[in-house]
Amino acid sequence: MTLTGLQEGVDRILEGGGSDEEILQGVVEALEQLVEHYSWVGIYLVDGDDLVLGPWRGPQATEHVRIPIGQGVCGAAAASGETEVVDDVNADPRYLACFPSTRSEIVVPIFDEGRVVGEIDIDSDRAAAFGENDRAVLERIALQIGPHCRFGVGTD
Ligand code: SME
Repeated sequence: MTLTGLQEGVDRILEGGGSDEEILQGVVEALEQLVEHYSWVGIYLVDGDDLVLGPWRGPQATEHVRIPIGQGVCGAAAASGETEVVDDVNADPRYLACFPSTRSEIVVPIFDEGRVVGEIDIDSDRAAAFGENDRAVLERIALQIGPHCRFGVGTD
């Protein structure tokens, strides 16, 4: 796979239209399917002081379907508005464990009109799987999907 191919796939999903939920589901599927080192992909949406799990794709469901902002790697990224890259999840005391196979994680905040409205959370079964290219492509995708992250808020 190439990250360029991923960007093209996401562009096609956005051009294809559909409901916000369908678009976000398509994006998580593209991420999980097209990039070999992405083992589990989910989008969390901000709901008040919490993050609530929206569309996701991976081998297993996570028990962390609601995470207070400020807790875990996910909550840290939502609180700061900065991408978090964790090369070794077992060495990060903030890490909330979901899957025994996970070795590294990236969390990219999603903005809409300057506010954090959600985030892309990706787990990898490979240590230190996420580099600068991953960060750059995912931050661009996060900007593209920001306007599609309103639907889930408050409906949980
Ligand atoms: N590991 C995350 C929790 C979400 S699961 O990875 C899907 C965290 O530390 O916030």
